[in-house]
Amino acid sequence: MATVLVVDDDSGVSRAFGLFLEKEGHRALVASSAEEGLELAERERPEAVFMDVRLPGMSGLEALSRMRELLPDSPVVVMTGHGTLSTAVEAVRKGAFDYLPKPLSLEVARTALGRALSRGASRAALEGARRELADFPPEALLVGRSAAMQELYRQIAAAAAADATVILVGESGTGKELAARAVHLHSARSSGPFVAVSCAGLPEALLETELFGHARGAFTGAVTSRVGRAEAADGGTLFLDEIGEMSPAMQAKLLRFLEAHAFERVGESQPRLSDVRVVSATHRDLAALVAAGRFREDLFYRLDVLRIGLPPLRERKEDIPLLVAHFLSAGDPARPTEISREALAALEAHDWPGNVRELKNCLERAAALAGPGGAIGPEHLPGHLAGATGTGGLPGSIAALVRRLVRERVAAGKAGAAGPGGEPLAELARLVERAAIAEALAVTGGNQVRAAGVLGLHRSTLRKKIEEYGLDAGRSQGAPQP
Ligand SMILES: Nc1ncnc2c1ncn2[C@@H]1O[C@H](COP(=O)(O)OP(=O)(O)OP(=O)(O)O)[C@@H](O)[C@H]1O
Ligand SMILES: [Mg+2]
Repeated sequence: MATVLVVDDDSGVSRAFGLFLEKEGHRALVASSAEEGLELAERERPEAVFMDVRLPGMSGLEALSRMRELLPDSPVVVMTGHGTLSTAVEAVRKGAFDYLPKPLSLEVARTALGRALSRGASRAALEGARRELADFPPEALLVGRSAAMQELYRQIAAAAAADATVILVGESGTGKELAARAVHLHSARSSGPFVAVSCAGLPEALLETELFGHARGAFTGAVTSRVGRAEAADGGTLFLDEIGEMSPAMQAKLLRFLEAHAFERVGESQPRLSDVRVVSATHRDLAALVAAGRFREDLFYRLDVLRIGLPPLRERKEDIPLLVAHFLSAGDPARPTEISREALAALEAHDWPGNVRELKNCLERAAALAGPGGAIGPEHLPGHLAGATGTGGLPGSIAALVRRLVRERVAAGKAGAAGPGGEPLAELARLVERAAIAEALAVTGGNQVRAAGVLGLHRSTLRKKIEEYGLDAGRSQGAPQP
């Protein structure tokens, strides 16, 4: 139960809203002017505020800043029947959590209330991590406090101070490219260029011109000459990613470059020189490739001078809250997305085979589902993360529905036989699907393109389902007929 303040001079609106709040199990406070609302806010410290824009005396937008100062942790939702783009922009600028057009439908009010309250409750989950994150300046590339990361920082600092060749080894998504940039940034070459080349995915001839450039007329279509990456990196750092994928012929050319810093553009015979420090990276076991005869041993020793290992995320799970705080404030530092304790716990329990990249992608997707400034719950995480323990990962009401349905069937002695009354699982899936579609339509104001985007459905699939469930605008809103 939460205390929610409604500020509206239209007593019809505030009475209806108050009743709605009480039916949802909350305590409603009602004020009919901004002044009265501020007074109540100060005295009662509501967990969320819904405030009209047009009010007698001080306007809602004027009161908004004061309200934010009084209740820094309580979201303020602004409502208006006379909205223009500039009111919306101003409301958001002044820190409104949400902006709702009037008249409010119950569905919209319920969604907004849920979002506002879960955000407030979620704020605490990342508090400690946010304080720690403050120690990392915005230009810090790598985030993490674990012993494994401290050791990595030590190795990066040592490599930065030297001018020797560096190789970064670690699983996919562990931050090899970031580490390469960090080595460059803290080295004496930091005022020179950092140039990255991926050695995977390019045919040999293309990789050669990419790396070493070509002369005009070197081959059909070479209408101009071209500077290669090795030359472009002169005075700086050349980052060779996925070095394990390089072909034997390219390996020979690279070896020569590492030994003499000399190379030729394709179609030229005059050698050129480029002063670079090479940093390479691979997620492969290069020594095993050497043993298998697929990687030159002499090149291997040239590359493997200073070796830095990147720890997989599952070996430094204590960094997860910090990384979550880092990625969630990347969108909008002034109003970062929050995350519930339950969802954070699910992230900490996962083993992250795709490492930090997988975590980052997972959070981006969850943040998009939760909406700007919203709170990520287990329902926004991929099923295999959130649903590990029965209904544990489900939000309350759906979990209750699942439990009720299953228990009713067990009590009715239907376990083991698919009696009449059909397929409970399919029925449940339909109920949830219908609710999700109705919700997506409600929050997008019936915009099918946006609703389809929200749900990750093709628009034509959405349209079919809208018909199937009788959700066409203005039509029956009753339960689906079995
Ligand atoms: N310690 C970290 N702090 C913050 N962000 C990180 C960290 N490690 C990785 N990332 C982020 O995770 C993503 C993957 O990192 P990166 O591209 O450096 O991985 P990689 O080891 O090069 O992976 P691959 O082998 O697949 O190329 C990037 O978006 C990067 O910014
Ligand atoms: Mg990479």
